[in-house]
Amino acid sequence: MKIIVTGGAGFIGSNFIFYILKNHPNDNIICVDSLTYAGNLSTLSSVMDYRNFTFKKIDICDKDSIFSLFEAERPDIVVNFAAESHVDRSIEDPQIFLTTNIIGTSILMDACIKYNTKRFHQVSTDEVYGDLPLDRKDLLFTEDTPICTSSPYSSSKASADLLALAYHRTYGLDVTISRCSNNYGPYQFPEKLIPLMIANALDNKLLPVYGEGLNIRDWLYVEDHCEAIDIIMRNGTSGEVYNVGGHNEMHNIDIVKLIIKELGKSEDLITFVTDRKGHDLRYAIDPTKIHTQLGWLPKTAFAEGIKKTISWYLDNKQWWMDIISGEYQNYYNKMYGERLL
Ligand code: NAD
Ligand code: TYD
Repeated sequence: MKIIVTGGAGFIGSNFIFYILKNHPNDNIICVDSLTYAGNLSTLSSVMDYRNFTFKKIDICDKDSIFSLFEAERPDIVVNFAAESHVDRSIEDPQIFLTTNIIGTSILMDACIKYNTKRFHQVSTDEVYGDLPLDRKDLLFTEDTPICTSSPYSSSKASADLLALAYHRTYGLDVTISRCSNNYGPYQFPEKLIPLMIANALDNKLLPVYGEGLNIRDWLYVEDHCEAIDIIMRNGTSGEVYNVGGHNEMHNIDIVKLIIKELGKSEDLITFVTDRKGHDLRYAIDPTKIHTQLGWLPKTAFAEGIKKTISWYLDNKQWWMDIISGEYQNYYNKMYGERLL
């Protein structure tokens, strides 16, 4: 199987590449990534020399380059991870989210049609469903929950999902979509909650918790997500959406306290900052469909996954310190400089 993986120098895409190379050594992977601030080629250094792995620095919005690549490679499957992925950045500057997440996805699907790609898999998010109330634990997102987005990020991802379903119906493109809850694990860019808190705590820097820290996210270990995508892209039904999550809801503040405890730091580091605009209250996935139809269930309990994640950040300081010392630092100052109460 020849698979184009877009966004493979980012967090989930790189973990997915490692997963496929380990579990399907006969597959060939072509990673397409434009290496934005969130893409890090050093993440892929351990597989760069594999005979069945190739890296191409291409922007998915660059139609000519994408079509030339498809012409040359004729992939069997395309898995689209490439996206602008950070909600806070989308609130600051939505435009690039619309370009990459919507136009980029349509260019990839146009190429799939032209070059007869057997399957296009769109990696989406539970954020397309909007949010759930904090006090209604009985409510969960199912695949039939209406799209009702809150941020420019989630709106761009929802637009891409709708386009993918439209390409399926209108052009007969073989499409599957997965909508996943929050991921955590190795190689996550330290602007997202868990790696940011680990990096700051290790550095004895303040831990900026939005609002009162009571918002709830449903956390999934990244390797479990990769396995789910692998199963869907091979065995999922064309035109179908699959929710991916693990019944693992947690308040943000509890995650931050857990990280502090694991690292032996003081809760005095916690600082409550101005809330995110339009901040979604609660995400919670009902994974019944993928479980009953495709047999997938997450394998990693949060207690185990967070320990593994913290150990990884302790063992790979250079990876995230290189990031923090660069361009990211300017962004950090801009976002939090004005926000600290
Ligand atoms: P990430 O920001 O870590 O990585 C995104 C990658 O895409 C980077 O390597 C970046 O260089 C690349 N990229 C961005 N724009 C590009 C372009 N125009 N052309 C080519 N490459 C480009 O993101 P992530 O957390 O790994 O998320 C991957 C996918 O999973 C995204 O589509 C995201 O919406 C989705 N998702 C993420 C989560 C999560 O918790 N991280 C949860 C659900 C869904
Ligand atoms: P994030 O990792 O940005 O993922 P998402 O917004 O896609 O869920 O944020 C997770 C939660 O943590 C979210 O409720 C916002 C909150 N948060 C903080 O409280 N402080 C921070 O510095 C960050 C980055 C997030």
